[in-house]
Amino acid sequence: MTGLPDNRDSFGSRFGVIAATAGSAIGLGNIWRFPYVAGENGGGAFLLIYLGFIVLIGIPVMLSEFTIGRSAQRNVFGSFRKLAPGKPWYLIGLMGVAAAFMILAFYTAVAGWTLEYIFQSVINGFKGQDAQELNSMYFSFIGSGFRPLLWFFVFMVLTAVIIMAGVQKGIEKYTKILMPLLLVLLLALVIRSVTLPGAGSGLAFLFKPDFSKITTSTILEALGQAFFSLSIGMGTLITYGSYIQKSDNLGSTAVSVAFADTFIAILAGMAIFPAVFAFNIEPDAGAGLVYITLPNIFQQMPGGYFFSLMFFILLGVAALTSTISVLEVIVAFFVEELKLKRKAATLLATGSVSVLGILCVLSFSSMSDFKLFGFTVFDLMDFTSANILLPLGGFFIVIFVAWFLGREKAAGELSNRGRLRTGYMPFFMFIIKFLAPLAIAFIFLQGVGLIKLT
Ligand code: PHE
Repeated sequence: MTGLPDNRDSFGSRFGVIAATAGSAIGLGNIWRFPYVAGENGGGAFLLIYLGFIVLIGIPVMLSEFTIGRSAQRNVFGSFRKLAPGKPWYLIGLMGVAAAFMILAFYTAVAGWTLEYIFQSVINGFKGQDAQELNSMYFSFIGSGFRPLLWFFVFMVLTAVIIMAGVQKGIEKYTKILMPLLLVLLLALVIRSVTLPGAGSGLAFLFKPDFSKITTSTILEALGQAFFSLSIGMGTLITYGSYIQKSDNLGSTAVSVAFADTFIAILAGMAIFPAVFAFNIEPDAGAGLVYITLPNIFQQMPGGYFFSLMFFILLGVAALTSTISVLEVIVAFFVEELKLKRKAATLLATGSVSVLGILCVLSFSSMSDFKLFGFTVFDLMDFTSANILLPLGGFFIVIFVAWFLGREKAAGELSNRGRLRTGYMPFFMFIIKFLAPLAIAFIFLQGVGLIKLT
């Protein structure tokens, strides 16, 4: 396509790169996971810590992934093997593939819920229901077993179909149009939500930090959420980085994507929390928070039918541009390392993820009492991937770039062989050499209770 080695596929335009990467980053992580995790962790103080992590750790990890992927031109496993032949760094790649399996399984389950909510919007199923009824509606849906399973499979198939079509024709084409539309709709929701009676306490919850609510596990949650939301720590952006053309500016891409991602998460918070307080929903209601709150807002809007329908369609699309980026990690690995055809690789990957996915879906119904380490399968996948595998992956990724690849090679890649100015290099190197790994290690060990320093 673009004269890259091995005839690998690549993104066709600079806007396409940003759209696809932002498409990966922006998704249920921003609109579903951010409000629910922030709600469980006290709101404002969580947000502040989260923002700090995005800037000081998130962007540097993202840049490190781009550097690895674009210089190696391989999938996550192959990239480490190519850049560090005969060394065990490829294990990070394997960990990334494992994380991709886990994320895809529980994420697709939640993505399937958007399809049910599209369906309910179409048949006007939320109409005339009060907050309590909308709450029961959510729980009876996820508890019903069959419908969530059905939607899970539909979503899985949608993801697989796009992945089979390949990078430019599949991934790039759709994200370019649909992401900007989501932003517009979210803005409309924010306006409705902040003008509800009693909205003020929701905004205070989100923006007034109450540091007494911060514990060591909150800090790990904020770090995990930052990694999850930016799609970093497991090689999604190594894989996408390998499709970025050599003339694109990695630094500005990383900053734009991180900015867009954070902006959307804050907007989602501003749409959700005022409504949560206005309708007397508990902010720590957990995984159902958004699905319970949003239909309440739509009821209170002129044109609610239209907004509800559009919103859940776009939420589904945002989730789809994320699931394809996770599936692409596995498929690129199967294609390049197991020498499978793209189609066979996609079928193998979706088939095996589905097995785990079924357990995640059933975690809200027939398997709700089945617990491992005190978690349902769904919660275990969510917690382990975001709070353990991604931070661990991020830790090794920055160490790899800082201490193994080294400043010269990183600078060469980031400056497009000297063609771009990279005044941020000294700062970037300091962060990935010392600050980020130390901070991640400390927060991680403290958060999982392996060290106790405070
Ligand atoms: N960042 C995506 C979201 O916020 C989820 C994701 C995580 C995608 C990890 C790829 C890798 O929805």
